[in-house]
Amino acid sequence: MIHAPVPTVESEKASTTSSAPVQTDLELAAIATAPSCARGLVRAVAYEWGLSELADTAELVTSELVTNAVQASGRLRIGSGTPMVPVVKLWLVSDRISIVVHVWDGSEEMPVRQDGAPDQESGRGLMLVENLAQDWGAYRKAAGKVVWALISPAGR
Ligand SMILES: Nc1ncnc2c1ncn2[C@@H]1O[C@H](COP(=O)(O)OP(=O)(O)OP(=O)(O)O)[C@@H](O)[C@H]1O
Ligand SMILES: [Mg+2]
Repeated sequence: MIHAPVPTVESEKASTTSSAPVQTDLELAAIATAPSCARGLVRAVAYEWGLSELADTAELVTSELVTNAVQASGRLRIGSGTPMVPVVKLWLVSDRISIVVHVWDGSEEMPVRQDGAPDQESGRGLMLVENLAQDWGAYRKAAGKVVWALISPAGR
């Protein structure tokens, strides 16, 4: 089981020390608009945290992970026959140098990176994540699982 590196947030320090770890989270309905909402949050906090150079990459990676989470949640919904809309959860943690993007969904299926041929039309999202992130992985929770990606500045 792989766990993402998660800096500890000490809330007292976070409010007083600009170099302290920071985090934010967002819960979204698992519907088609979720990836763009997630992108907006990522861009905003990357700027707020003084990490604007990571914004583009973090946005792209988040978009792929949230899109996958929404799709997996959709399959879950069809499978269970429930009329309720599932949620996906996004949280971002930073040590003020790198950002770790975490995306939770309620599906027990795990992500499988494809070895896509260049002309393949799907199976490219996780290849992109693998190329853009310094590291990525997934781990199971009691319900569902988390897929995470570490976004670091060039050369780190
Ligand atoms: N959050 C997830 N939950 C369950 N399965 C996942 C999840 N993310 C990815 N997968 C599985 O891994 C496969 C590869 O994901 P990837 O994002 O690379 O491709 P894709 O979503 O099929 O297509 P594309 O991203 O190119 O539109 C998916 O087809 C799916 O089977
Ligand atoms: Mg995908």
